[in-house]
Amino acid sequence: TQPRSLYEAVGGEPTFRRLVGRFYEEVAADREVLRPLYPEEDLGPAEERFRLFLMQYWGGPHTYSDERGHPRLRMRHAPFSIGPIERDAWLRAMRIALDETGIEEPYRAQLWAYLEMAAHSMMNSWG
Ligand code: HEM
Repeated sequence: TQPRSLYEAVGGEPTFRRLVGRFYEEVAADREVLRPLYPEEDLGPAEERFRLFLMQYWGGPHTYSDERGHPRLRMRHAPFSIGPIERDAWLRAMRIALDETGIEEPYRAQLWAYLEMAAHSMMNSWG
């Protein structure tokens, strides 16, 4: 039998909705670093893409790829200059979102390890 996915273990879509919703509240509030990077005035569609991506990555439905194709996240971030300041701002917002979503261990540590690694790997600017 298949082990239960992290997606299911943490409560499925409603949990990812809370996590990513909280994250985007921080993005909206960060007028210095994060908010100016987002090209659209409405953050709703970006929030939905990120939520669907994370759901798919952790074993939920494949709606992200049905709508967007292969993630190619580094390529999709290439238009934005992401250096240590942007990465740290992103991780700070994510830390708050993760802490406030109330995801239990060991899932919370697993999510954080992945998000931290992914944020480092998204950097494309060093000076
Ligand atoms: C899209 C910023 C890290 C996943 C975007 C967009 C920006 C952005 C400005 C475009 C918004 C839009 O979709 O309209 C950043 C910054 C990061 C970061 C500053 C700092 C390191 C990450 C990480 C992940 C991620 C670590 C995954 C774990 C995504 C996804 C999209 C996206 C799935 C939508 C891609 C698509 O077009 O389908 N990001 N991002 N990002 N980001 Fe990030």
